[in-house]
Amino acid sequence: MTIQKFELKKIKKEDLQHIIKWRNDSKIIKFNTQFFLLNMEYQKKWFKNITKKDSTSQMFIFKYGNHTVGIGGLIHHDCKNKSADIAIILGEPKIRGKGFGTKALQMLVDYGFKQMKLHRIGADIFEYNKISLNLFEKLDFKKELEMKDYLWRDGKWWKVYTYSKINSKN
Ligand SMILES: CC(C)(COP(=O)(O)OP(=O)(O)OC[C@H]1O[C@@H](n2cnc3c(N)ncnc32)[C@H](O)[C@@H]1OP(=O)(O)O)[C@@H](O)C(=O)NCCC(=O)NCCS
Repeated sequence: MTIQKFELKKIKKEDLQHIIKWRNDSKIIKFNTQFFLLNMEYQKKWFKNITKKDSTSQMFIFKYGNHTVGIGGLIHHDCKNKSADIAIILGEPKIRGKGFGTKALQMLVDYGFKQMKLHRIGADIFEYNKISLNLFEKLDFKKELEMKDYLWRDGKWWKVYTYSKINSKN
């Protein structure tokens, strides 16, 4: 088996077809705040917004060899307070559970702290998203807030946790 490179790449318009597929996948929707299915028109507007110079999002695509396997980035960038939140999806099921999520999150954290010079990186994680809770804790994100009954899903209220990682050098 050839080992392929796992990389963070600039997002391009042709990636939208993959992103829309992942973002409309019920297995992924359950882990984010999206409550409607996206269409291509909406997706193109989103792309136009995130690629503007003054956008508060810095979004990337994850490539494994030639394959486009995920999307992630730093969103809600607040320049004055040097903070942003992380968004991460490994859309292709075959790629999950093999350590690539860890690599992907580490790449985004590095980008946030080294390129964007952030002081704080945050993430809101749903109570039942055990994989993400494990992943963020593994990379030393600390739980700072527990919001009770914050999310209504599948006929039940759930907690949402806010995690953060601080770089005191920035
Ligand atoms: C979250 C996500 C990016 C993780 O990617 P991944 O490639 O599966 O993660 P990894 O293989 O690197 O595993 C990272 C850690 O997650 C945990 N994990 C992975 N698979 C798990 C499983 N089946 N059950 C419990 N924990 C698991 C482990 O702690 C693992 O670290 P370890 O193997 O050293 O113990 C991916 O599952 C995903 O895209 N999920 C859907 C979208 C999503 O939830 N996004 C985050 C919203 S906050």
